[in-house]
Amino acid sequence: MNALRRWARLALGMRSFVRTGQMGDGRESACADHVETHAAPGDIDAALSAIDGFAVREAVLVNVGVEKGALLDAAVRRADPALALELGTYCGYSALRIARAAPSARVLSVEFSAANAEVARRIWTHAGVADRVTCVVGTLGDGGRTLDSLAGEHGVGPGSVDLLFIDHDNSAYLSDLLSIEQRGWLHRGSLVVADNVRIPGAPEYRRYMREHEGTRWHTVEHKTHVEYQSLLPDLVLESEYLVGS
Ligand SMILES: C[S@@+](CC[C@H](N)C(=O)[O-])C[C@H]1O[C@@H](n2cnc3c(N)ncnc32)[C@H](O)[C@@H]1O
Repeated sequence: MNALRRWARLALGMRSFVRTGQMGDGRESACADHVETHAAPGDIDAALSAIDGFAVREAVLVNVGVEKGALLDAAVRRADPALALELGTYCGYSALRIARAAPSARVLSVEFSAANAEVARRIWTHAGVADRVTCVVGTLGDGGRTLDSLAGEHGVGPGSVDLLFIDHDNSAYLSDLLSIEQRGWLHRGSLVVADNVRIPGAPEYRRYMREHEGTRWHTVEHKTHVEYQSLLPDLVLESEYLVGS
């Protein structure tokens, strides 16, 4: 399928995506089928290449992608996490990158769509990381239920989150970060990486980081591009938490 048609199909799917977390044409479960048939079991690199190949040749996916994924990998290596928390699982691609960059980390990923959780679990199982990468179905804006589940059932506690990757609903980036800060789950030196800060955009989040530069946070703004193309600019923010011990 040519590139123009693939991007037109993505634009058509965006209404469904905002409502349900999926594009509405079955591409997410087709991606899991593709990984299962094209990547050797237990091979994380092969699973990631299969997902990238599917996104480039079959149907565009809203994964962090290759260029921004490399920024995420570098931040993960800097944080060297025992526990990484992600907001926004989709097909499980970025969680897989985090698991690859931190081979002994536990990764918890929060996703509101149960259908996406199922796709991601299939891919993680195939790639051999399902014992340490977990999807929690929910959203941090649900009045505390998901936060309580992360604490009670998944062992997230004071100072335990070494790396946080924010890649879900741009309008919830700041409120969800503040909920995590209020629970005391970060420690001095925790790294928070936020995707899509320019497109679709998270201006409140960016302003918050600028206002607290050098006091609560130290942020580096990485200029990059929207996933799977090289024309549209995007921003990834990498912020180090300066509070606590
Ligand atoms: C851009 S995709 C995540 C991509 C993924 N991080 C990757 O790079 O492979 C955003 C995901 O966040 C989910 N989502 C949207 N709003 C959410 C919320 N408030 N809480 C949890 N998940 C949410 C969507 O269903 C979608 O799967």
